[in-house]
Amino acid sequence: MKVKIHTLFEYLLETTDAAPDAIVGFSLSASPKLGDYLPDLNPEQSLDWNSRDFRGLPELREHVLAQAGLTGICTPADVLITAGAAEANFLSIMQLLQPGERIVMETPGWPQAEVLAKAKGAEIVKVARSESDGWRLPLDRLAADITPGTRIIFLTNPNNPTGDLMTAADLAEVVAIADRVGAWLLVDEVYAGLEWAGPRAPSVAGLYARGITTGSVSKALGLQGLRTGWMICPDAEHMRDALILRENSSEIMNIMGELIAEIALRPARYATALSRARLEGAANLAQMNAWIATQDLLSWLPPKAGLIGLARLPEGLGSDAFARMLLAPPYRTFLLPGSAYDLPGHIRLGVGGGAGVRLDDGLDQVALGLKDWQRTRSAIRIDGP
Ligand SMILES: Cc1ncc(COP(=O)(O)O)c(C=O)c1O
Repeated sequence: MKVKIHTLFEYLLETTDAAPDAIVGFSLSASPKLGDYLPDLNPEQSLDWNSRDFRGLPELREHVLAQAGLTGICTPADVLITAGAAEANFLSIMQLLQPGERIVMETPGWPQAEVLAKAKGAEIVKVARSESDGWRLPLDRLAADITPGTRIIFLTNPNNPTGDLMTAADLAEVVAIADRVGAWLLVDEVYAGLEWAGPRAPSVAGLYARGITTGSVSKALGLQGLRTGWMICPDAEHMRDALILRENSSEIMNIMGELIAEIALRPARYATALSRARLEGAANLAQMNAWIATQDLLSWLPPKAGLIGLARLPEGLGSDAFARMLLAPPYRTFLLPGSAYDLPGHIRLGVGGGAGVRLDDGLDQVALGLKDWQRTRSAIRIDGP
């Protein structure tokens, strides 16, 4: 079956040309510049592929294990470098899931798994995270939905879009649930490294023989445009299947992505970049929390990890209408409507992107938009029939 568009991507496509003055939904840290890496790049470097390993540069795969705390637990043979976490998810889902098989996922969550599972003709079961329960994943409901024959459990940890963070104990329970029926457990860790409430969670590739961890340099390091990510999995057959599909899609990794990611993930450099991103992220989140506290019409549960969270809109204001109103003059501010996650009463707020997104101005515009909406609504009530 054809891969069909999801409402989240539809909104991004529709609004690409809008050229907003500010963005209040950015999910990644401020992006470094090419010049930051030039001193460590070799001008004589061939722009052919890496010519060493189809799974990706060996030293990059070592760094990938190190940043996930998996050195000595998994081996570089368990790591495949991919075009972002997106390709890693794609390779796993497309190779593991067959028509009619059951995949269990969270909602709200990252829509990629649902889009691909639909195209595969799989049975999709969604486990709801609810705001009244702090957006936690209800493990009892997850357990109830994992029937014999369930092929994949797909989760994001930290969660996109709520910023919820599963602990090591939660993950151990999820592993036990998956293990009871031999399901694959695919956990997308693209936001890892930016934890605010508790430590980074362990990676499932180190916990479970059928555990698959996906991640990338896109979010905490802001290197989204490199299109460099990874899949970590101790199952040799699945890694080979993923490599075979990759050979028939992007074929090999782009060499610049591999080289720059290798530099960015060198342990000392990674530690410095991560602590800068954490300082900036924490400061921006504190600013967002303080701003929301001044807004009578908005509430949110701050993310436990990552740079994004969901804010609840007042009754009567739909996220689509509000996001489109804000994008137009005079506000010219971009944010993602919650309808992209089947939550039309919420908006996604984010604090990433550095100075370029003009967060202060964006928040002023959101506040203005809310006031204008409230004024128009009461004017209609007073003057209307
Ligand atoms: C949960 C999640 N997974 C994967 C991706 C894609 O990331 P990458 O740039 O590593 O492909 C995103 C991007 O927003 C995401 O939020």
